Amino acid sequence: MIRINENYLKLQASYLFSEIGKRANAFQEAHPERDIIRLGIGDVTRPLPDACIKAFHRAVDEMADIKSFRGYGPEQGYEFLREKIAKADFQSRGANISADEVFVSDGAKCDTGNIQEIFATEITIAIPDPVYPVYLDTNVMAGRTGVFNDGRYQGIVYLEGTRENGFIPDLPREKVDLIYLCFPNNPTGATITKSQLQTWVDYARENKALILYDAAYDAFIKDDSLPRSIYEVEGARDVAIEFRSFSKKAGFTGTRCAFTVVPKSCMAYTSDGETYSVHALWHRRHATKFNSVSYPVQRAAEAVYSDDGMAQSEALIDYYMKNAALIRREMTELGYECIGGENSPYIWIDGRMESWAFFDMLLEKAGVVCTPGAGFGRCGEGYIRISAFNNYENVENAMERIKKAIA
Ligand code: MLT
Repeated sequence: MIRINENYLKLQASYLFSEIGKRANAFQEAHPERDIIRLGIGDVTRPLPDACIKAFHRAVDEMADIKSFRGYGPEQGYEFLREKIAKADFQSRGANISADEVFVSDGAKCDTGNIQEIFATEITIAIPDPVYPVYLDTNVMAGRTGVFNDGRYQGIVYLEGTRENGFIPDLPREKVDLIYLCFPNNPTGATITKSQLQTWVDYARENKALILYDAAYDAFIKDDSLPRSIYEVEGARDVAIEFRSFSKKAGFTGTRCAFTVVPKSCMAYTSDGETYSVHALWHRRHATKFNSVSYPVQRAAEAVYSDDGMAQSEALIDYYMKNAALIRREMTELGYECIGGENSPYIWIDGRMESWAFFDMLLEKAGVVCTPGAGFGRCGEGYIRISAFNNYENVENAMERIKKAIA
């Protein structure tokens, strides 16, 4: 008899953004005359930078010619892309990362979801609350938790983000083995300073733990004193894996390209305490289950690092950050306490009511989709997240409608 992985039965009925999509679509079906503005899932709306499009086209043409055609690419990704990443994203900021420590992939969602399978089932995991749901759900699927009860899975150490700590969780009081962190944070938009990040790295070093650092939104950091990478912090190379993405940085959500950095000095342990290279494990996993990203997409991603590509992707970020500033300003003027939206595309708003009720109210009265904070964990209850990813005109329109709905 074929049996299912019963850990899946512990999961909430559907993935947060699928649930939001379902509710918004049901509302649209019931009210076909209403125009809905979607500021829920963080999905880009602007075209790819011109430099990327040109490189993409050139690479497609290469695939059409027998002399330049390419089959399977190198499993870690093409060196032309990994070299650029190592230099521009890390070495230029004093982070000692080399091209052979970069693994090109099709998304930070996939990588942050898949990475857990190279670690033992019995480890203790610390996960922020509120949190991007992928970290938690993939560990539930892998059987690292007990059942869901009162908004929490048994067996997880929750790192609470609250108004009091500015949504930067305190270090766990107990000893944990694997720690998920995300800055600029999804969903709260909070950012972390170098010295705050240093305390996490020190904790990991002292406890032989490992940090999974999701920096998918690094490009939105405008304050240059803030770290864009965990490797800007002393000692992080030995205890941290970092996830990055071209999705939000250069509009690649539909094109798919990201990368994960696993330094060669990063170690984990066998049950006998023997040291083992995490890079070797991830390489083994990657080579077995993944065939890298298509050649034209990697050429398009490489073009992000050209002079034109840098200027054009910077302009994209500025465009969305103008939306973020507008949302934050308007919601603050309406009397809501907001965080994020300054070095991040997400604005986290204290709605002063149950967050799904706020979601329903905005949808019904304003035709605007947001994300209810409760979907990100118990500490998100009472909050909503508004995403800055949309066209400026739509965001302006959404804010006008919200003002009317709330007045
Ligand atoms: C979000 O809205 O949190 C993100 O767009 C989801 C994702 O990147 O998978």
